[in-house]
Amino acid sequence: MSYFQIDGGYPLKGKVKLSGAKNAAIKMIVASLLTDEEVVLEDVPEISDVEVDIEIVRSLGVEALYIRPNVLKLCAKKIHSYEVFKELSSKSRASILLLGPLLYRFGKAKIYELGGCKIGSRPLDRHIEALKTLGAKIGYLDGAYTAESTGRLKGTSVVFEKVTVMGTENVILSSVLAEGKTKIIGAALEPEIDDLILLLTKMGAKITRVTDGAGRNTIEIEGVEKLSGATHRIIPDRNEAVTFALAAAVTHGDIAIENARPKDLTAFLAKIHQAGVDYEVSESGIRVWHEAGKKLNSLDLMTSPHPGFMTDWQQPFSVLLCLANGTSTIHETVYSNRFEYAKELNRMGAKISLFHPAVVPSIYSFSDYADDGLYAARISGPSDLRGKRLTVADLRAGATLVLAALAAKGKSEIFGIELIDRGYERLEEKLKALGAFIERRN
Ligand code: EPU
Repeated sequence: MSYFQIDGGYPLKGKVKLSGAKNAAIKMIVASLLTDEEVVLEDVPEISDVEVDIEIVRSLGVEALYIRPNVLKLCAKKIHSYEVFKELSSKSRASILLLGPLLYRFGKAKIYELGGCKIGSRPLDRHIEALKTLGAKIGYLDGAYTAESTGRLKGTSVVFEKVTVMGTENVILSSVLAEGKTKIIGAALEPEIDDLILLLTKMGAKITRVTDGAGRNTIEIEGVEKLSGATHRIIPDRNEAVTFALAAAVTHGDIAIENARPKDLTAFLAKIHQAGVDYEVSESGIRVWHEAGKKLNSLDLMTSPHPGFMTDWQQPFSVLLCLANGTSTIHETVYSNRFEYAKELNRMGAKISLFHPAVVPSIYSFSDYADDGLYAARISGPSDLRGKRLTVADLRAGATLVLAALAAKGKSEIFGIELIDRGYERLEEKLKALGAFIERRN
């Protein structure tokens, strides 16, 4: 079993280039099913979540081929199956997005229970209700979801009372070729959704973002008869940007993150500034640095959907807060169980305790609220982190442990790094080029 060995306590310095966004790439691979023509995606991150997605669409008959490094050509002309095998469905959350495109191709679709990181119960009710609203008949038996439609799905209004990123994407992918107009009311605003919209627009879809009369974020989609091929460069991964920015901050380093898009990172940049970390934005990206001896400030943060402070960022940000002076809090409102990393950081010398915040439950995006749920963390700092043998709980928790190990004194061994490989392309190579002492060992 592979693991990372990290010798921490050294500043990371230099330049790094971001890979394409995982959470855009996996949706775009699905979008290729909506046309018989070629879809070429550039800057595809070669990570295991993308590999699983490719395996899934290939199993359906889609031709998928890297024509250059990170350039993936997809062609769904010979698609022959409407069923995603159980072992493949269970490896990826993207399978749920295949229902709409498979309904378009075959009038029926079948997938099984989904995989993905264990960060809460992650139900699919919002997806299922939305697809039903568009006219799909959805069944569920023994872990299998089936979908059927007679003819094309029918455009209509879909209302999300609570925001959902992939739910929004699911309706987009299901309605671009539906009959008539679809409105997604309460649509999520994430940049990866806009990138998917951009690809689909190049393919001939008619999609616009508007704010409706009641001030709700809305996406309007005018169904078209047919989509064509397109070439599209995927936006840089903002979660990777945050990881490298924090790597600079927690190691007293100085990293220029080429191709980072400041507009996707506004809430994050505001928080590192508040913490006392320096950054500057230039045409080519963002530079982040933190001088040795300069104190870090504690702060309170709450996660929320875009344009707020993203849930995926709170985990790595916790390492910075462990090093800050005073007591900080992190309030997680998007997922019900995203603090698994805290135990491991505490073993390294952090002082993190979880608690139930006294707020109205309606602020949470998740549906499995419990009166005693531990949805916030209190972090007392500064702590001297020490290297340990660590185990990764989920993808972003993995990045968190890597950052903690880079900041800590001594050696760490991090196990479960296949979870990190799901979302980070050549992480150890990029960190090494910045001066990190990190090795992948078997
Ligand atoms: N939810 C439901 N029912 C649904 C859908 C969602 O209760 O039908 C709940 C979820 O359990 C969660 C909340 O609503 O508590 C928000 O979930 P959302 O649907 O917005 O998340 P997602 O689309 O499944 C994507 C990213 C996540 C990222 C979130 C939030 C992908 C593949 N995943 O998940 O990324 O954290 O949006 O921005 O795009 C990651 O990259 O490691 C990752 C987990």
